[in-house]
Amino acid sequence: MRELAGRVAVVTGAASGIGNGLAHRWAREGMRVVLADIEEEALAKAAAELSAGGAEVLAVPVDVSKAEQLEMLADRTYEAFGAAHILCNNAGVGAGGLISDLRIEDWQWTLGVNMWGVIHGLTAFLPRMLQGGEEGHIVNTASLAGLVAAPFMAPYNAGKFAVVAISESLFHELSMTGSQIKVSVLCPGWVNTRIFESERNRPAALGGGGDHAPDARAQMLRGVLEAGLQPAEVADQVFDAVANERLYVITHPDMLPAVEARMRAILDGTNPALTMIV
Ligand code: NAI
Repeated sequence: MRELAGRVAVVTGAASGIGNGLAHRWAREGMRVVLADIEEEALAKAAAELSAGGAEVLAVPVDVSKAEQLEMLADRTYEAFGAAHILCNNAGVGAGGLISDLRIEDWQWTLGVNMWGVIHGLTAFLPRMLQGGEEGHIVNTASLAGLVAAPFMAPYNAGKFAVVAISESLFHELSMTGSQIKVSVLCPGWVNTRIFESERNRPAALGGGGDHAPDARAQMLRGVLEAGLQPAEVADQVFDAVANERLYVITHPDMLPAVEARMRAILDGTNPALTMIV
């Protein structure tokens, strides 16, 4: 999809990091942008920044783990702008630890946002986008952790593998039906965002609400992230993938040998080598 000006982009997790980078990128192309996020204050600030730059913006507080909130987001989008052309299912959180130590709430929270958030986005928007009969593009944010499974990140890995699988299935379905809607799956390595502070958005019912001060692991992650790509650079790569209808968006090709080694082990019938992501 190359004609973007005047069209409508919807971005979840738009108040920070990669989602915010995507929102700015679409606005720069002259798109009308719907920003969705659970963090209301940051969302209002992000919307004000984009409006000040001249963009036409709609900001909607949304928890992507709730199906009805994505339906509400789609209703609000179509009421305001009459269409959705680019949908970025991007909101995500990170929780980790040894599987033997994890609580059920860790799995529920992580999969609720990272996997169900994408499913809810597709369920609410895709039928309306198809019915609209116009060109469109879905961008699902997975991760390198959707292609190779490191230890201490099982809920995150599980959700991201699911997002890659859903995106590949969708790619085939859209291709087989000759649809004008295309799909990309974004698989970044390290990007300089606030994901190491994901706990700030964990609901109390799922174990949140305690001390949000990043622990030693989160501090280490922060250092790695700060040395990563900037969200704007990732957004440029997504823009290119949308323009060229490319499914996989691999922002860190230097990390692909880990993916190759995993595939090789499957083909050779050997056990996987240890891949440490952090
Ligand atoms: P971030 O923490 O800076 O931004 C995530 C945004 O999602 C925040 O604005 C947050 O408020 C929002 N959010 C969290 N829970 C939500 C919910 N239930 N409903 C709606 N919004 C919610 O982190 P970042 O890195 O920008 O994360 C964006 C995506 O990129 C995530 O899916 C993450 O897993 C993925 N990713 C990030 C990488 C990195 O190195 N930063 C690497 C690979 C993937």
